[in-house]
Amino acid sequence: MSRAAVLTGLGTYVPPRVVTNDELSRTMDTSDEWIRSRTGITRRHWAEPGTATGDLAVEAGERALKSAGSGDADLVVLATTTPDHPCPATAPDVAARLGLDAVAAYDIGAVCSGFIYAMASAAGAIAAGIAERALVIGAETYSTILNPEDRTTSVIFGDGAGAVVLRAGDPAEPGALLGHDLGSDGSLKDLIIVPAGGSRRPSAAADASGARPAETYFHMEGKPVFRHAVTRMAASSRAMLDRAGWDPESVDRFVGHQANVRILHAVADQLGMARDRTVVNLDRVGNTSAASIPLALADAVAGGLLTPGDRVLLSAFGGGVTWGSTALVWPEIVAD
Ligand code: UT7
Repeated sequence: MSRAAVLTGLGTYVPPRVVTNDELSRTMDTSDEWIRSRTGITRRHWAEPGTATGDLAVEAGERALKSAGSGDADLVVLATTTPDHPCPATAPDVAARLGLDAVAAYDIGAVCSGFIYAMASAAGAIAAGIAERALVIGAETYSTILNPEDRTTSVIFGDGAGAVVLRAGDPAEPGALLGHDLGSDGSLKDLIIVPAGGSRRPSAAADASGARPAETYFHMEGKPVFRHAVTRMAASSRAMLDRAGWDPESVDRFVGHQANVRILHAVADQLGMARDRTVVNLDRVGNTSAASIPLALADAVAGGLLTPGDRVLLSAFGGGVTWGSTALVWPEIVAD
């Protein structure tokens, strides 16, 4: 009998500082009206300077382990676009800080699709017998890479972390991940990029005034990304539904990457799924990239939108470009 990865714990953390649209419009040529109508976002959380992604990941990881009823895990997979350092990966430090001694730990870089990729990677390790119990974390501090002069990105992204625990179990039990659909198109890599700071273009020096060079900041071509996000998330969702043997109408909750409410509704429309099945929490947290899916899951549980037995479809699109989907029947868990 094959082994499945079964979701058994869920925990999240957002830094306390709330940044409203009105606050941003005081320092940037934007408005609450523009941000709300174009994206659906009303506020987001930004970490205080000095707080790193690993700090948020430890908080969410601790809560997910508590939710799973045991502090144990033998694998930590951390999805992030904003690691604590270019080297080493953030996951080993997070594992050590969680008291997970000598466990396998690595980062996944798939930008906003990172959490789906990380779940697929952990599920593969469980299926192969490499791990019994994996802590999968999506954590970001985009506030550290947003260009304060770029209103097209600064109003969209927020900081936060979310985590799940996956354990080895039976493919037929609630919570079992029912497979994955993953893909990428690297020819579109320039649509979402931090140009400098890697081996292709090592960090540029600050200019004479000491200002941080623009190429060390996050850059996104919003319009084409929007178009590709809708097309790819819809196609990936369809592929995942085929794999699970589910009709779109039978899906109780669609938990898509929280980039833009217009994208989520367009994907639901393309799938022929009622828009009110779509979970939306981006209005309160913005686009938190790799943390977006677990934050949306926890919000749906807290709001009573996700209950045991629900058929749940997860789908994301992000830089790379990358995309991915998975599905599960929601289990009995107490999110923390
Ligand atoms: O997380 C990974 C995946 N990311 C996404 O899926 C993001 C996908 N893209 C989007 O969500 C949307 O493209 C955005 C929200 C980024 C932008 O919305 P849009 O409706 O595509 O706007 P636009 O880029 O076409 O800009 C429309 C206008 C422009 O002015 P003009 O050229 O019409 O005069 C922009 O300069 O809005 C202007 N604009 C702004 N105005 C006020 C752009 N950003 C802002 C802003 N405030 N923050």
